[in-house]
Amino acid sequence: MTTIAAGSIELGTIPFNLYAPDHKGRLVLFCKAGYPITEKHIGVLKNRDRGFYIGGDDYEAYLDYAHKRLDNIISDPEIRISDKANITHGIAKRTVRNLLDNPASAVSLQESERVVDTFRDLILFSTEAASNLFSFSSLDPYTFSHSINTSIFCLLLGEKLVGAEDEVLSLLGMGGLLLDIGKSKIDPRILFKPAKLTDRELEQIRKHTIYGYEIVNEIGMPEPILAICRSHHERLDGSGYPDGLKGDEIHPFARIAAISDVYDALTSDRIYRKQSSHLHALTTIAKEIQAYDLEVFGALLDIVLRNDQLISTFCDQHIPRGFRQEVYEASKRAASVKNGEELPDGGKITAALLAIKQEGSSVPPPEKPAARPTQG
Ligand SMILES: [Fe+2]
Ligand SMILES: [Fe+2]
Repeated sequence: MTTIAAGSIELGTIPFNLYAPDHKGRLVLFCKAGYPITEKHIGVLKNRDRGFYIGGDDYEAYLDYAHKRLDNIISDPEIRISDKANITHGIAKRTVRNLLDNPASAVSLQESERVVDTFRDLILFSTEAASNLFSFSSLDPYTFSHSINTSIFCLLLGEKLVGAEDEVLSLLGMGGLLLDIGKSKIDPRILFKPAKLTDRELEQIRKHTIYGYEIVNEIGMPEPILAICRSHHERLDGSGYPDGLKGDEIHPFARIAAISDVYDALTSDRIYRKQSSHLHALTTIAKEIQAYDLEVFGALLDIVLRNDQLISTFCDQHIPRGFRQEVYEASKRAASVKNGEELPDGGKITAALLAIKQEGSSVPPPEKPAARPTQG
């Protein structure tokens, strides 16, 4: 059984069985699939504190139902932001699966754009929503969860760096969703190989940037999305691929995508390694700061360290306030340094992160927020 937001149910026929607990707490059928929700039902739905439930087999049907009503759900002030985020997340996962299966499908693309716009609206409304949008699945090494998370990081970073411009943010969010689409052309035996890759295999995997670029080019995506797909593994010091670009040669959106991509990759379980803590991930990036855009990294620190809910979503360690402030100050100074200039605070950021890491591991973690309903 999965809980659903009562506010997502409207007048009219429902395509799933809807259950609610009776006065003894036992789940009973509230409205049967194929039967209409009436005014009377709505009255109960609105005034009841207890949850409403659907069976696991009906989840797809519920998503279809919610998808058609997504705009109403998002704009309804009575529906909690966490419920909005959970519904959007369920829809996003399915949309991304369809998109990766068939990138040339106009329907998949349109749906993905809508999902990204919904992510964007939720994030602009409340950064707290972002923590409900992240997706964690250890059985999903590169596709759905990674695409969704990278898209959300691109949106969060974009909002900090570029501002709340709808069109720009949509491009960034869509780029994040599509950046690894070229992996659909890589042999899964290489992609999911649980052991060290040979040089030849590594070369194959690196081609996902070119394949991705070709796919999005073919379906007529705009230039910033082409740049994200092709250049998200380029590094500012020229150590990246596929074109070995340096500094300003790399599109600014691709620099945002690079940090979003690597941060999610480091904090998620992969088939070839366990996830690292988010502090470890930040420290890893800080140690290689010459490869990344400092301003983007400053924005990432700001987002992650300033947002308690994100920290508890990423779940690993308690971060003492004093250290958090220190890193925040360091990140602000880092953000004022132009690319290519000396990076006076790179070392300080790394030192502060390492200090947090040591300090954090000796303090008990805060209580985790309630788990996401079962669709996770
Ligand atoms: Fe990639
Ligand atoms: Fe990636």
